[in-house]
Amino acid sequence: EFLARHALDVEEAVRKAAAQEIMPRWRRLAEHEVDLKSGPHDLVTDADRKAELYLTDALPALLPGSVVVGEEAVHANPASYEALQGDAPVWIVDPVDGTRQFVHGDPGFCTLVALARRGTVYASWTYAPALDRLATAVRGQGARLDGEPLRAGSPEPGRDLRIATSHPDYTTDEQKRALLGLWTDGTAPRACGSAGLEYLAVARGELDATAFSWEAAWDHAAGVLLVEEAGGTHLTRAGLPFGIRGGNTLPFTAARDAATARRVVGLLSDGA
Ligand code: IPD
Ligand code: CA
Ligand code: CA
Ligand code: CA
Repeated sequence: EFLARHALDVEEAVRKAAAQEIMPRWRRLAEHEVDLKSGPHDLVTDADRKAELYLTDALPALLPGSVVVGEEAVHANPASYEALQGDAPVWIVDPVDGTRQFVHGDPGFCTLVALARRGTVYASWTYAPALDRLATAVRGQGARLDGEPLRAGSPEPGRDLRIATSHPDYTTDEQKRALLGLWTDGTAPRACGSAGLEYLAVARGELDATAFSWEAAWDHAAGVLLVEEAGGTHLTRAGLPFGIRGGNTLPFTAARDAATARRVVGLLSDGA
């Protein structure tokens, strides 16, 4: 099978994209290397573009017949997103997740790669080069962080739920209050600024859940498998798992266990 032979080659490609195209620009970004996309908070840099181009060459070379759906390519040509609906294996690529942190010189960004076919994610790579952390997941074979098995863990009885939500712009006030209500210790639901690192925090048991209100496949494909393989789960408001081919009821959550997921989805639904 492809993954048995080539999982390490994918890992090498992801590491090389970061070493060649992302890290040399981190904290050394020239002004002309940063552009705005949809608005002042939606940035793209040469690191995003060039790392995606690198992976768009390297990944299909490992798996002939496969195609790439990448954030920046879809921005240039929205029709390329439709490859997710086809039959060919798809590499889903977010070259820099957390571009804003990257631009600000913060280490909290990562490269996300997922390998999917006909809507099922089979493997994923979450690589945070500035933190020197690589999380991988293979369907049915578990999740690992730097080689060590990842477990989402079970909640400690009586402790407050720790939930992140990285969509303040889209969350209604009621939903925010509902989430805030869980944090009786006074801390607020936080956003990591990188969806990929929020999934990793759930998979490590650092967060109990994270909630999202948009469904771009490159933000979620790697993370939903990572959380699943770490023993966690994900759930949309209709009570179904999140699907990378779209049609989800939003917002949705990825959580350490089914009970937590149902609780968070319930809170989000009440406030909607
Ligand atoms: C962003 C991050 C962030 C989320 C934004 C995303 P990008 O991805 O995942 O956490 O709040 O909505 O767009 O643009 O840095 O790849
Ligand atoms: Ca972006
Ligand atoms: Ca992203
Ligand atoms: Ca991105």
